[in-house]
Amino acid sequence: MDFKKIVQYNFPTLIRFGAGSSKELGPYLIKNELFRPLIVTDPNVAQLDFFKEIVKELQNRNISTKIFQDIHKNPVKSDVYRGTEIFDELNRDSVIGIGGGAALDVARAIVLRVHHREDLFIYDDLKGGDVFITNAVPPFITIPTTAGTGSEVGRSAVISDDETHQKKILFSPKLMANIVFADPLLTMQLPPFITAATGMDALTHHMEAFLVNMFHPMCDGIALQGMSLIHESLEKAVNRPDLEVRSKMLIASSMGAVAFQQGLGVVHSLAHPLSSLLDTHHGLANAINIPYGMEFNITGSENKFRQIARVLNLKNESGEGVVRYLFELNEKIHIPGKLSAIGVQPEHIETLSDLALADFAHPNNPKPVSRENFKSLYLKAL
Ligand SMILES: NC(=O)c1ccc[n+]([C@@H]2O[C@H](COP(=O)([O-])OP(=O)(O)OC[C@H]3O[C@@H](n4cnc5c(N)ncnc54)[C@H](O)[C@@H]3O)[C@@H](O)[C@H]2O)c1
Ligand SMILES: [Fe+2]
Repeated sequence: MDFKKIVQYNFPTLIRFGAGSSKELGPYLIKNELFRPLIVTDPNVAQLDFFKEIVKELQNRNISTKIFQDIHKNPVKSDVYRGTEIFDELNRDSVIGIGGGAALDVARAIVLRVHHREDLFIYDDLKGGDVFITNAVPPFITIPTTAGTGSEVGRSAVISDDETHQKKILFSPKLMANIVFADPLLTMQLPPFITAATGMDALTHHMEAFLVNMFHPMCDGIALQGMSLIHESLEKAVNRPDLEVRSKMLIASSMGAVAFQQGLGVVHSLAHPLSSLLDTHHGLANAINIPYGMEFNITGSENKFRQIARVLNLKNESGEGVVRYLFELNEKIHIPGKLSAIGVQPEHIETLSDLALADFAHPNNPKPVSRENFKSLYLKAL
């Protein structure tokens, strides 16, 4: 860190956290005179009882609800365009995202598009597109239903190109939700596989953020505490869930998105191409890759790995101890140890390596990552 440089620290959104907090949505809308929200979700969540109850409760308060649920598993630009058309046609006054990272990202991208009508990827953060995000945005409320991405407190949306499937980031502080209702009761019925995959995504956010070479002790503190909460609760959340572990996972997930304001690293760059090429769930892709990515990162970050190992209460206070922990945790929560188990074939490796090199996450990795490094990491994980 260059201590002569001035850096900026930002902390997020108003969060109403706790069992039952989603019941505050109706009163919040009325208080803020929002009577025509567009509710953005995904086709699965739209069928769940808690979702139907939220909608019914708004209707009982004479709030006009329109649900947009027609989104891809890894959302694409055309999802955002369709959602915005509905926003316009039905004269909506606000956007509520209810769901996992996919639904929340589409909701946030619609919030952007309502008053920014250039091609969506003009606003691509990697190309400096955030400078074009200058107009007003409609009121935006998020209600997370998975504990993984932390997208509810984020300021970015990950949206893929319809043709290339490459993930793009739309970023602006304007895209932050006005309020988050983080209600662990909504995550009680999350299936074990989704709990495991999304929980490992959150753990990856904390670990990668902590390893970024930046002087950000606030984010570092959050990252360490987030890892500790996940260590205490993920295995139980997968195998024997109760309100306590669901609560800890949900807040740890939001904390992850705060921590990764510092940046992410090699693991996310290994993971993104799997979603682009094979439509792999984001959290699952991170979960399989994290032990290999962290092994790659040990040299040069020994001291930070020692700190991580302490937070995880490991006997072996070293990078090697952390890597072993990650392999064992994956096994306990039934995540496959190898990429071949999710359909990756040797012939995918070259394309995956190209996409990983082009990915936005690894420039913040503590160690530079070359195409050769990506290739050998994929081959190791295969
Ligand atoms: N904006 C960000 O900062 C950020 C960060 C990381 C990832 N992402 C993006 O988030 C997406 C992944 O999000 P995710 O991991 O939350 O997965 P997801 O949104 O794809 O949800 C996973 C599955 O869980 C189901 N589901 C959601 N809530 C449920 C509930 N309460 N009960 C039962 N089933 C439920 C969904 O219908 C879906 O089938 C990816 O597109 C990724 O690129 C965004
Ligand atoms: Fe992630």
